[in-house]
Amino acid sequence: MTTAILSALSEEQGGLMHALQQPEQLRHAGRVFWRGRLHGQPVVLALSGIGKVAAATTAAVLAERFGPARMVFTGVAGGVGEGVQVGDVVVAQDYLQHDFDASPIVPRWEVPGYGGARMDCDAALTALLSGAVRDWLTRAQGTFDANSQPRLHQGLMASGDRFVSAAQESRALRAALLAAGHDVLAVEMEGAAVAQVCRDYGLPFAAVRTISDRADDSAHVDFPWFVEHVAGRHAQGIVNSLVQRL
Ligand code: ADE
Repeated sequence: MTTAILSALSEEQGGLMHALQQPEQLRHAGRVFWRGRLHGQPVVLALSGIGKVAAATTAAVLAERFGPARMVFTGVAGGVGEGVQVGDVVVAQDYLQHDFDASPIVPRWEVPGYGGARMDCDAALTALLSGAVRDWLTRAQGTFDANSQPRLHQGLMASGDRFVSAAQESRALRAALLAAGHDVLAVEMEGAAVAQVCRDYGLPFAAVRTISDRADDSAHVDFPWFVEHVAGRHAQGIVNSLVQRL
């Protein structure tokens, strides 16, 4: 019962690679996959690549070549929801593509053939992941600034092929989606694609993202700092806790 664990960036994957037992490297479709064990659980680690197409290819290769029982995405995102601050953690309940637009053929954001705009994450796996995040945030409590204890948020996440780095754009994106009933907490560039591939293959999917920036005018500064200093530690802490619950 292998768990596939996807990360967007090598900094996010670094800690997991470090902890991987009996690592075995496999290459396919220009990607590197690492098979091994984390706390005795069989896993395969992969970098998704950046953007929805790269992530979809990686997810499809994982599904076809490694026969995983489930897929989990761990990475960073830009916070757009009210009160979703840098350092907080968002667990996705579902996903949409904020840049998908086949209107007027179908309503805005709806993906033809899938019956709507949103792709659900697996409820049971998502509950385990949320438990793992709570556990990690409690265990890591002493390491955070006393005034900024990270919070866990759960809800809708949106993916698109752009790094959102202007407050005006982020506000407009959130307002348009909210007006259509989609209350987005965070934006990133891969999760919705992986959710769709998992739906195609009937695989349970869950995703967790730590907020690296507010998708605003300082996102280009906040993002690289966070990725370098914090993202890997969060990914490792959360995944370690998750695999012990599987
Ligand atoms: N991932 C992390 N921050 C992001 C942002 N602001 N836009 C898109 N993807 C991101």
